[in-house]
Amino acid sequence: MIPPLIKVKGLKVHFPIVSGIMRRVVGSIKALDGIDLELNKKEVLGIVGETGCGKSTLGRAILRLVEPTEGSIEFSGRDILSQSKEELQQFRKSAQIIFQNPFASLNPRKTILESIGESLLYHHIVDTPEEQKERVAEVLSLVGLPASAMERHPHEFSGGQQQRICIGRAIALNPLFIVCDEAASALDVSVQAQILNLLQELKEKLSLSYLFISHDLSLIRYLSDRVIVLYLGKVMETGSVQAIFENPQHPYTKALLSAIPKNHPRETRQRVVLHGEIPSARNPPSGCPFRTRCPYAQPICAELPPKKVIIDVATGLPTHEYNCIL
Ligand SMILES: Nc1ncnc2c1ncn2[C@@H]1O[C@H](COP(=O)(O)OP(=O)(O)O)[C@@H](O)[C@H]1O
Ligand SMILES: [Mg+2]
Repeated sequence: MIPPLIKVKGLKVHFPIVSGIMRRVVGSIKALDGIDLELNKKEVLGIVGETGCGKSTLGRAILRLVEPTEGSIEFSGRDILSQSKEELQQFRKSAQIIFQNPFASLNPRKTILESIGESLLYHHIVDTPEEQKERVAEVLSLVGLPASAMERHPHEFSGGQQQRICIGRAIALNPLFIVCDEAASALDVSVQAQILNLLQELKEKLSLSYLFISHDLSLIRYLSDRVIVLYLGKVMETGSVQAIFENPQHPYTKALLSAIPKNHPRETRQRVVLHGEIPSARNPPSGCPFRTRCPYAQPICAELPPKKVIIDVATGLPTHEYNCIL
């Protein structure tokens, strides 16, 4: 069997809360609280959940942009938390990120040639300005922009084109893995579709793996092979995109799915209405974190952590897992 590209075990990220002039630690925000996941080569793993559930922190922790409090992260079989300087530099080349707001992630003073090209020189992918121009032109054509775009500045492009430039910058170093953090969420619906198609096309062409983060289930469904549903830094349910969308088990997944419009008036779908806001990650509810908003919650949910239930493949449906006491 081919080993996974990324393997995360027991990942916790707790941000300390400091107070007073002595900067005393008075508590912590449990952004991630024990995450296990695997991502295979050429696979898209969708991460879905409401704002504040820890999606971005997960992407950043895997890229080593935030330090985990606990747990292990392996990339191509190597522990990325104990890398040497050289290994870290190699890892930085192989793992990239695309953000929600393309304009904010491009330097307005730099030309597109500089924005995409400077890391090529830094990482010795190219050695001369001529080679740099050649590679940037190649990258621009991969993301559907003309080579002449390299002479221009970010403000001269539309939002969709700017996101293409950011995708170009991410693929320029020939990475294996890209975190797409709400990469299509801020765009118009028509442009969204073009960006998703581009990501899909590049995945095939360049054999990429994505951690595709979105609060929008329709985007998740379009691109992902597997899905993880997060709530307050914990995994609620995980499975193939088909299992999650056609046979959701966890009340939270059902609630998220209830919020998307039906395709047909006669379509039957169990409706679970979600009330209130996600609680603070500083004081997450005891037992099951979702119990304060769960319509099926029982007293036992406050006492016991949710147990893992594996959906049996014998039912003819794809295997997936969810975490619930009931
Ligand atoms: N650098 C940080 N310092 C303190 N708290 C943070 C930091 N980054 C994120 N958080 C907190 O961690 C939780 C998860 O945030 P985030 O990962 O951004 O969620 P999402 O991307 O799902 O909206 C939130 O409660 C957020 O306020
Ligand atoms: Mg986020």
